[in-house]
Amino acid sequence: SDQSILPGYTYGQQPLTSPISIEELAVLKQTVLFTQEDERLLRLAGDVVADQTEAILDVWYGFVGSHPHLLRYFGQQGQPDVHYLAAVRKRFGQWIIDTCIRPYDQTWLAYQQEIALRHHSIKKNQTDDASAEPIIHLRYILAFIVPLTLTMKDFLAAKGHDANTVAGMHTAWFKAVTLTAVLWSHPYVYREAF
Ligand code: HEM
Repeated sequence: SDQSILPGYTYGQQPLTSPISIEELAVLKQTVLFTQEDERLLRLAGDVVADQTEAILDVWYGFVGSHPHLLRYFGQQGQPDVHYLAAVRKRFGQWIIDTCIRPYDQTWLAYQQEIALRHHSIKKNQTDDASAEPIIHLRYILAFIVPLTLTMKDFLAAKGHDANTVAGMHTAWFKAVTLTAVLWSHPYVYREAF
């Protein structure tokens, strides 16, 4: 199973429950201007970044590691937990590919809910048996849309696609990350407000 390859990665193993239905997801996609063309461009982006995920993660982990206000979530009392950082990093790499190539269906929605809970105190630290900060504050999850989007541009441009195609892949990625951050806000807000 996926689990044996990637500890803690339970894609497809969650109960198929999510805070929103497929119909609600469809209109949420419309709200971030996400179309079938974006789907196509994301799949292309998946090909483009498939062999670059370690380099991308170096950039993102460099960003987190150089900001104590972010690194604190991977440890306690200012001491980062290297095992926790490494375990999460592997699933983060898988997430890049999943975001590009998985169909956004009920299974995908269910895993978005699972990752949302893993950022919130409901499930943070459980998967890797860590004892780090108990919750990632929502403001940083939303703010992360910017670095996770802007730093992707060079990687999308690295395989010689024309400027229009690169821009299209980049925009599709931006929409996907925004959609993700929106879905992950669910545990943080009261039900009627989501
Ligand atoms: C876990 C992505 C925001 C810290 C993860 C995972 C992914 C991810 C893919 C692994 C999911 C899995 O278990 O399969 C993202 C994205 C974000 C975001 C796309 C924003 C759009 C943040 C922020 C922090 C952070 C702001 C703060 C430094 C962590 C930590 C875990 C984690 C500590 C491990 C949670 C656990 O205990 O299971 N993130 N993340 N993330 N992320 Fe984020």
